[in-house]
Amino acid sequence: MVFHYREGSLHIEQVPLEKIARRFGTPCYVYSRAAIEHAYDEFELALKGRKSLICYSVKANPNLAVLALMAQRGAGFDIVSGGELRRVLAAGGDPRKVVFSGVGKTEAEIESALRAGILSLNLESEAELERVDRVAQRLRRRAPVAFRVNPDVDPGTHPYISTGLKQNKFGVAYEDAERLYRDAARRKWIRLVGIGCHIGSQITSIAPFVDAAGRLIALTERLANAGIRLRHIDLGGGFGIRYSNEDPATVAEFLDGTLGMLADRSEVLIVDPGRALVGNSGALLARVEYVKRGEARNFLVVDAAMNDLLRPSLYDAWHEVRTVCEAPDAVEDCYDVVGPVCESGDFLAHERRLAAKTGDLLAILSAGAYGMSMSSNYNSRPRAAEVMVSGRTVKLIRRRETVRDLFALESIPRWKED
Ligand code: LLP
Repeated sequence: MVFHYREGSLHIEQVPLEKIARRFGTPCYVYSRAAIEHAYDEFELALKGRKSLICYSVKANPNLAVLALMAQRGAGFDIVSGGELRRVLAAGGDPRKVVFSGVGKTEAEIESALRAGILSLNLESEAELERVDRVAQRLRRRAPVAFRVNPDVDPGTHPYISTGLKQNKFGVAYEDAERLYRDAARRKWIRLVGIGCHIGSQITSIAPFVDAAGRLIALTERLANAGIRLRHIDLGGGFGIRYSNEDPATVAEFLDGTLGMLADRSEVLIVDPGRALVGNSGALLARVEYVKRGEARNFLVVDAAMNDLLRPSLYDAWHEVRTVCEAPDAVEDCYDVVGPVCESGDFLAHERRLAAKTGDLLAILSAGAYGMSMSSNYNSRPRAAEVMVSGRTVKLIRRRETVRDLFALESIPRWKED
């Protein structure tokens, strides 16, 4: 167990969270290195014996320390911006294992990806094919491309994180894909390397995943018959994790059906998990500033807020909240856990039974993915510190921002009339 109580005190690996909070302050993100390694092992094991590549989806948690850990394990990376590419390179990632998705790649981003020598640009429109072709010709470098195909499968997840439906902005229509591949195959500066899809995030059941894979494999076969041979099939990410009482399929269960379908095919299987690799490795630590008893509800006002962890406000996402120190005489009550930001939508949890008082420390669990990466400075709140733990060792992997950091890029103009 990554997070566990020892003598009434919640630990991450061998370290009491209370100690981390005292040393680095709150709010603070804490990640377990062992948990990330363990999640990575699960993918490696499920893919054993298959030509495959695990491309960690950088957006889930782009801290350089996390990326370096993935790179050491031999992972590739799924990126969506020039910024993410720079991070991967800075962390020692191999550009030849990078796939680049996203509907709005700029010319500059395409250029930097081609110069870095990435594995594949995952194209999401015909207009993007034109643009990549032009940039490749200008640089005199053939562009390795795949199309991200929209398989029109309902992943059965939150509408904001469904991406494989017809009404979504992502990918090219399944019906158009063959025509686009034929068009691309005729272009001198384009090298067709693969095909991809990504149907959504936090998928818990196997069926949509297998459906999407089936449609992609069928298309790959049709293309092969037309003389267009691809080197890889990228099934995207989306593997769900347990936040509360979900019962997500295991990674092996997710991949079994697909591996079966691919048994006599030679393409490299790529997956790009984000959440499943880091989500349950991390917690957000927050201190109770006030206990506020209201007419209709009781509140624990903590020093973390929606700017630190947006998922509850944005998706009504449920994160488990634990008291870090269990006091035998503490009285439990029902609370909303809220932050100091001036929005009614600023909450981290609703209606939880907790035994907490002012000054107590809370751990908001399953915050390793899309936590820090979606944080902001709203209300001029400096972003939290990030810490990684390995056994008994604790390392600061991002220092807490200072208020000075927040306005360091701003300037007050001098107007002529002043
Ligand atoms: N590949 C592509 C092309 C993606 O767009 C994404 C995520 C992934 C892989 C990784 O998905 P994962 O394995 O992490 O589910 N902010 C939301 C999640 C948005 C995911 C966007 N795309 C959340 O906090 O739930």
